Amino acid sequence: MSRALDSTHRRGVFQAEVLANKQICDEHFRIVLKLDDLPPTQPGQFVQLLCRQETDPPSVHTHDWSAARPPVLTGRELTEREPLLRRPFSIAARRDGPTGSTQIDIIYRTIGAGTSWLGRVEAGTQLSVLGPLGNTFTIRRAKNAALIGGGVGIPPMLYLGSALRGRGKAVIVFCGARSANLLPLGLATDVEPSEHGLPKMCIQEFAALKIQSVVATDDGSAGCPGLISEAFDRWISGEQFDPDDLVVYSCGPEPMMQAVGNLCFQRGIACQLAMERHMACGMGTCQSCIVKIRDETPEGFSYKLCCTDGPVFDARDILWE
Ligand SMILES: Cc1cc2nc3c(=O)[nH]c(=O)nc-3n(C[C@H](O)[C@H](O)[C@H](O)COP(=O)(O)OP(=O)(O)OC[C@H]3O[C@@H](n4cnc5c(N)ncnc54)[C@H](O)[C@@H]3O)c2cc1C
Ligand code: FES
Repeated sequence: MSRALDSTHRRGVFQAEVLANKQICDEHFRIVLKLDDLPPTQPGQFVQLLCRQETDPPSVHTHDWSAARPPVLTGRELTEREPLLRRPFSIAARRDGPTGSTQIDIIYRTIGAGTSWLGRVEAGTQLSVLGPLGNTFTIRRAKNAALIGGGVGIPPMLYLGSALRGRGKAVIVFCGARSANLLPLGLATDVEPSEHGLPKMCIQEFAALKIQSVVATDDGSAGCPGLISEAFDRWISGEQFDPDDLVVYSCGPEPMMQAVGNLCFQRGIACQLAMERHMACGMGTCQSCIVKIRDETPEGFSYKLCCTDGPVFDARDILWE
């Protein structure tokens, strides 16, 4: 059963059935959710998952207390680190069935209370999904696209890569992780990533879309050693692109996106960045996810919300702190 929240943006709360929840590497899982009547989504958008059983809400108590009689706190939010707030996750893939039912894939890293709970969820469990949320990547006329993803910024690149290939674009993807066992996608069994940063059909999910990948790991355990932004720098410096013929899309750690944005700015290449700020509501209410944006105000900047104005921003607009 679903509840529409907003007819303009066509978002809602949906009950999803977990079809699979498989571990991909040391810390990443891929969860497949089946939902009915999910509105259209586009790459860049995200959903907010309730990372606890909805039928079992965290208990809220009030306590009268004094220094002599301190409160005894027993609520699960305090004692068991069960998350009250939903957690945001990018849509990594979407498959629509013939009867209005949809499957979406989310690839997540277990780093805290919510994602650890999610890692224990079994097939058949019902999850509450709020979405779709946020704006989208814009697919432009340029024939070529370069996608740069780092860590949990790689999953949205999968959905985007699929959409770009569907529009006939030539796509190359750059995937960075701290080490091979933290890569959130499967390496091909027959093609190894290049140690020199050459594009190869070395990541299964991208190879299936006929997209070549460059892999970089901080410790050199897969692909070329070093940062993925450095691998992108070497590639773009060796290519002769008309700036109008290439669009760069990126998601991942902010220093990585800042480096990618600067490389594109120096070359006059359009660059769209998906920011993953800490979020509470995901719907523009709590103001916890601000991004400082270049603006023609007396101060030279204004603040936008990552959850509703973003998460995708033009790299030239972002003022990094
Ligand atoms: C738009 C958007 C899309 C996202 N997409 C994905 C995705 O596809 N896959 C994925 O694994 N993660 C994604 N994230 C990050 C994900 O939301 C957080 O990892 C998750 O909320 C952590 O919840 P938790 O309860 O496990 O961790 P918590 O217990 O809440 O926190 C554990 C640690 O993680 C840090 N942390 C929490 N949220 C973030 C964040 N947004 N950025 C950096 N550090 C954070 C906390 O400061 C703390 O140190 C996305 C975030 C946003 C805003
Ligand atoms: S997360 Fe609440 S305003 Fe953005």
